[in-house]
Amino acid sequence: MNPTMWSRRAFLRMGGALGTVAFAAKAGGLDRVTAAAQAVANRTPEEIAKDEFFWREIQFAFKLDRTLINLNNGFTHSCARVVLESVWRYMDMINMLPVHYQGQVASNIQTIRLRMAAEFGCDPEELALTRGASESLQIVQNGIDLKAGDEVITTEQDYPRMLTTWDQRMRRDGIKVTRLQFPVPTTQDDLYRRFEKAITARTKVFHFCHTTNLTAQLFPVQRLSRLARSKGIVTIVDGAHALGQFPFKLRDLECDAYGVSLHKWLMAPIGNGCLYVRREMIPKFWPLQAAPEQQDSDIRKFEAIGTHPWAIRAGLGEALAFHQAIGAERKAARFRYLTLRWANALKVHPRIKILSNLGEPAETWAVAAVNIDGIDVRSLARFLMNKYRIIAVPLVGGAPPNQVFDYQALRVSPSIYTTLEEIDTFVMAMEEALKNGVPTTPDAEDMPEWMI
Ligand SMILES: Cc1ncc(COP(=O)(O)O)c(C=O)c1O
Repeated sequence: MNPTMWSRRAFLRMGGALGTVAFAAKAGGLDRVTAAAQAVANRTPEEIAKDEFFWREIQFAFKLDRTLINLNNGFTHSCARVVLESVWRYMDMINMLPVHYQGQVASNIQTIRLRMAAEFGCDPEELALTRGASESLQIVQNGIDLKAGDEVITTEQDYPRMLTTWDQRMRRDGIKVTRLQFPVPTTQDDLYRRFEKAITARTKVFHFCHTTNLTAQLFPVQRLSRLARSKGIVTIVDGAHALGQFPFKLRDLECDAYGVSLHKWLMAPIGNGCLYVRREMIPKFWPLQAAPEQQDSDIRKFEAIGTHPWAIRAGLGEALAFHQAIGAERKAARFRYLTLRWANALKVHPRIKILSNLGEPAETWAVAAVNIDGIDVRSLARFLMNKYRIIAVPLVGGAPPNQVFDYQALRVSPSIYTTLEEIDTFVMAMEEALKNGVPTTPDAEDMPEWMI
């Protein structure tokens, strides 16, 4: 079968599934996404990944600016129209009579906690809803008791904000922070051994990414968590990019705390995150904002932040429904299909270096990094933007407390609404850069803000 064509049978089935109601429905409604999913229900995620008719329905679910080619979806994701509309509805409702509706919406959020926990595999009493991964991770980073001389092991490629948080604790409490280096791509065994070798009698915390924000290097979370637990070390995992990008269950990771940005790959309204804390560990972390003693063991102590926009959090319910309507496996397979499409096309050129693991078993989904030998990556990003209106972020290592790494690369992150045409335009632009070079960009100050 032509990989880019829907089968005629599937198309007819979809017509049946949609019927008159759905065709009359507004493009981009959840009903159309559900009907599209029903129509392909007996096919594997890998087959569906190549089915442009299916993904066209998903593309319609978003309101996008197609004058730009967005290959930086790893930054913050657009949410689907139905999700945004739900935020407006909750805003309208709360705004009518805040004293009445705010409390109601706040207590109904428990429904979302239950649904999130069921979808992502944990006890609802282990899941706090927050405003993003920075908040989630800082709750546990700042909330754990550490004394002068205690050690935290993390990596040079952890997220800058999280490194800054440890840096501040170093200055405030006199803890020691060891930042491990690792090459990219590398193996999970290599990462495991680096952490194992770095343990000392004073090590109290492991902090690492599930997948990094740079090359999407995947870490062996469960193995590192088991190693840590066997030595009385607490594991804090940065899952900002993982949850919603590829399927897994939180409890299977066996870590102590896990922070997520839900406005990335779950495509929730901007300002949503979550924090998983293993039940026995909840009393061990202080909340960022004070909570009463009776709440010591209650996951909700991490959510007590005063008045905030409940409509944004309520919109998470619709984002979860949208994610479920597509299906986690289908999303992951499509991400991988798009990434392999550009990466396989480019890697045949000797000067191209892919810095992410493309092989099987899958370790790369929507995010991967590429480098052209001999071309400065900032100039490359500028060229892609100027000539082709392609947004992709250049990665250049910095100095502490920022990330420190010795490679340059372009991070490429398409999403479920990216078309094959857009991917192929990127490949063509990169081939042009390979052949003709790109104009030189003098320095980082010349880059627009979204790039840095
Ligand atoms: C690895 C990683 N950790 C943490 C964060 C911070 O997430 P948020 O913007 O939700 O606070 C990001 C954001 O890009 C990230 O990529």
